[in-house]
Amino acid sequence: MKGLILSGGKGTRLYPITFNRAKQLVPVANKPVLFRVIEAIKEAGIDEIGIVIGDTGAEIREAVGNGKRWDVKITYIPQEAPLGLAHAVKISQEFLGDDRFVMFLGDNVIQGGISSLIRQFASSDWNSQVVLTAVDQPQHYGVAELDNEGRIKQLVEKPRNPVSNLALVGIYMFDPNVFRAVNAIKPSWRGELEITDAIQWLVENGYAVHPYIHRGWWIDTGKPIDMLEANNRVLAELAHHVEGYVDRDSKVDHLVTVERGAEIINSVIRGPAIIGEDARIINSYVGPFTSIFHHTVVEESEIEHSIVLDHSRIVGIPSRIEDSIIGRDVEITYSPIKPKAYKMTLGDHSKVGLL
Ligand code: TTP
Repeated sequence: MKGLILSGGKGTRLYPITFNRAKQLVPVANKPVLFRVIEAIKEAGIDEIGIVIGDTGAEIREAVGNGKRWDVKITYIPQEAPLGLAHAVKISQEFLGDDRFVMFLGDNVIQGGISSLIRQFASSDWNSQVVLTAVDQPQHYGVAELDNEGRIKQLVEKPRNPVSNLALVGIYMFDPNVFRAVNAIKPSWRGELEITDAIQWLVENGYAVHPYIHRGWWIDTGKPIDMLEANNRVLAELAHHVEGYVDRDSKVDHLVTVERGAEIINSVIRGPAIIGEDARIINSYVGPFTSIFHHTVVEESEIEHSIVLDHSRIVGIPSRIEDSIIGRDVEITYSPIKPKAYKMTLGDHSKVGLL
C-alpha cells in the first residue's frame, strides 16, 4: 500500500497563523501536525508516501525533505489550486499507479494511529474503506447514512438536515477503482471535486465501500479552537520527559516535557505542558495544556492553555494569557513608557482580545 497526504489548501480559518505558512506545519505539542500524520502512516507499515502541495509547497518540502528522517520515501505532487480532495486524488494517479492506498488529510490528528485500519483494509477485497465518527454537529461535516446491515447507503457533504451523526474523518482507503469515480464526478456548487461525491459514486456503482467507526478522539485542526483542542489531547497522552535544565527554585509537574537546551528558572510549570528546545522560562507560570515551542522566552509572565510558536518573547505581562495561539517571532512585552496605553504593531488578520 501507498500513502497520500493532502497538504495543499489555504488554511484561511487559521489566519493570521497560516497567512504566510502551511497550516499542516503548525505544531501540536511541539510537533507539526503533518509530521504526526507521516508517523502514523509509517507506523502502519507504509513507506511510500505522496504529499499533495499547493502555495505553501516550498515550506513543506523544506520541513519534510525526502522523508529519510522517518525512513520513508516522499514524492511531492503539486496541485495548481485547492480544487477539492477528489481533485487531489486525480492528480496523484501517476504516483499511486495500481496500488491500494490510504489518503490522510495533512491537518487531522487522530487518537491511536491507523495501523489496525490499514491492516483490515490491506487484507480485505473491499474497494474502499472510510473512517466515520459520531459528532455533535453533523451539518458541518461530510455525513454517512448506513443501511440496516451497517453498510454505507449514502454520503452527503455538510447536509442541512443530517440523516445521521456519523461524520467522515479525514482518512480514506481506496483501490484503483477510485480513479473511475474521480473522473466521473463533476465539481460541486463550491467548485471543488468532492471526495464524498467520489465515494457516493463508488457506492452507487456497486463497489464495496466499508465503514469503520472510530471510537477515540479525532480533530480536524481547521480553526484556532480545534488547534488548541488537539494540543490538549496530545499533551495529555504524551510520554513526558525532562531533558533541559530545571533550577532548584522551580516546580515542574511530572506531566511536563522540557526539551533539550530549555531552561526553567524560578518558575512553575503545571502539566500537561511542553517547553521546546532552547526555550527559557524565567520567573513565570506556565499552566496546563500549554506548548511553548523552540527558542521562545517567557519572562515575568503567566500563560495557560495556549500554543506559542518559535522565537517569540513574552515579557513582563501583568495579566495571565489564556486560550491563545501566538505565532513566530512575536513580541508581547510590558511597556512602562507614558502614556499608559496598549501599543501594538499587528500584522494583517491579527486578533487581540483586550480586557
Ligand atoms: P480544508 O480544511 O478543507 O481546506 P483548507 O486547508 O483550504 O482550509 P480553509 O477552509 O481554512 O481555507 O482541507 C483539508 C486538508 O486537505 C488540508 O490539509 C488541505 C488539504 N487540501 C488539499 O491538499 N487540496 C485541496 O484541494 C483541498 C480542498 C484541501
